[in-house]
Amino acid sequence: MKVFLGFIPIEKYTGLALTEIIVEQLSAHGLSLENIREQGCDNGSNMKAINQQIQAEQQAAQDYLSMATNFLHPCLSRPGAGGFFMKMYKEELDHMQRLIEYQLIRGGAIIISGLNAPTVNENLTLYCAFKQSLNMEKSVTEMLENIVKVAESVNDYQCADFITSVYLAEQMASINELSHHITNMSKICGDEHAVYHYDQRLLKSYPHPFNFKMPGN
Ligand SMILES: [Fe+2]
Repeated sequence: MKVFLGFIPIEKYTGLALTEIIVEQLSAHGLSLENIREQGCDNGSNMKAINQQIQAEQQAAQDYLSMATNFLHPCLSRPGAGGFFMKMYKEELDHMQRLIEYQLIRGGAIIISGLNAPTVNENLTLYCAFKQSLNMEKSVTEMLENIVKVAESVNDYQCADFITSVYLAEQMASINELSHHITNMSKICGDEHAVYHYDQRLLKSYPHPFNFKMPGN
């Protein structure tokens, strides 16, 4: 049997404040945390770290989208790189959505935060874009490692396992892929003919189809 306890007005959204409100409301209904079943609706610190990660994944998606559109533009015309960064953009959106679903399943509060505008560089080279991406992925990885630390500190082993086995594994693959591109690009950097062929190779793996149609067509 499920019982609806009511709506609770929230003024502060920090992990600590949300935890205090939940504990307060439960005790007002004569319920003790000791009797909680299932996931116990997360603990405050974990909830906050996951919300920060949701924002980081969304920010990464936006930054990749900016790079992709830069390369797809006729002025830069690197369609392979454009397709590659579109793929990265979609992956980050998927990471964000999975975290949102995870937080929902565990009954955690989801906070959708604002994003920073990406820095647009109209002369972005493939080499710089891959290096920028590697730095982004490294800082995202550090944030994920922090979630694992927080989760373990409160004995939330399921969360630690989920982040480690799903997210950190994907980060490792992503960092490896970008590292290969950086090594290759560092060898041909400055040779636009070689960069053209590298981009054509990327295009075979990551084509970006344009679905735009004029009205009436
Ligand atoms: Fe991600």
